Amino acid sequence: MDAYCVRVDRERGESTRQELADADLVAEDVEIVVEDGSIFIPVVDPAAVPDDYELVERDLPERVRPEMPSDILGYEPSYERLGDVVILDEDNPDRAAEIADAVVDSALPVETVLDRASKIKGETRVRDWNVLVGDSTETVHREYGCEFVLDLAEVYFSPRLATERHRVTELIDPDERVFDMFAGVGPFAIPAAVRGATVVATDINETAIEYLRENAERNGVTDQLTSIAGDVREVTGDYEDWADRIVMNLPHSAEEFLDAAIQIAGEDCLVHYYDIQHEDDPYGPGERAIREAAEPSYEVTIENTRTVRSYAPHEFNVCLDVRLTRQD
Ligand SMILES: C[S@@+](CC[C@H](N)C(=O)[O-])C[C@H]1O[C@@H](n2cnc3c(N)ncnc32)[C@H](O)[C@@H]1O
Repeated sequence: MDAYCVRVDRERGESTRQELADADLVAEDVEIVVEDGSIFIPVVDPAAVPDDYELVERDLPERVRPEMPSDILGYEPSYERLGDVVILDEDNPDRAAEIADAVVDSALPVETVLDRASKIKGETRVRDWNVLVGDSTETVHREYGCEFVLDLAEVYFSPRLATERHRVTELIDPDERVFDMFAGVGPFAIPAAVRGATVVATDINETAIEYLRENAERNGVTDQLTSIAGDVREVTGDYEDWADRIVMNLPHSAEEFLDAAIQIAGEDCLVHYYDIQHEDDPYGPGERAIREAAEPSYEVTIENTRTVRSYAPHEFNVCLDVRLTRQD
């Protein structure tokens, strides 16, 4: 189709495209074309293009946008992606099936579509799934440069926590000793080891620990990571006074494990304590529980509080970053 475009030498192509994009002038429905050392960048409003650009009119191919589920459905469905799995949360089975069909027919690289069939439950925090498409619930998920293989029917995993995990990872120094008490398949523990830390990771779900070991191999950190399948309370005796940093990602029940955390905390230890609480007092219960468990042996300083995500109406998943400093 005929379109107005800015012609520049190839070397100035990307910087010019960026300048035009910053001014919201790049047309999205037509392809950028490279020809004979020149780049032709289509624009939406030729009159708004500054005089110092060369404006020409020429034939450019229409851009074919990959077809998304919403293009097929005519509405924006809600879903999450984890590797080649798409996760739905639909109450109506007909609507779930309709979305699953659209996902498969779209350009998304998807092998499996799952619909949540229960809340996360029990000690291992795994949920039931309705498998709408595909026959495997195992996938490989990539997050901030690390790779995690996991089976959603066997282990807990939430892609929604990626930003929070990255925040914690970025705080870790290479010479630290990190204890991940509820490690799952390793989305905190493995990036910590990749940062250079020495890591101990425990989980009561043996399958999660098997995946964690495979993930340690995939990410090249087996030497720095000790993984233990079992109740964390049974191993804390071996790591007394050990940790510079502790990750406690077991919201709802973390309070019950504070005595174990205090046992493994070193002289100066940062605890990332995850909790789910009502919006009226999201951090108070966690802070009180930590003080109760740690004082007076440790001075307790709440260094940071943050809402990780909204969990349910009026309930938040929160994190308290708490420094424990031993008092002699
Ligand atoms: C909310 S998941 C978090 C997993 C992982 N940290 C993540 O972000 O994906 C909590 C994990 O704690 C484990 N868990 C529950 N009770 C435990 C215990 N007493 N000792 C060790 N792990 C436990 C569960 O099996 C589950 O994998």
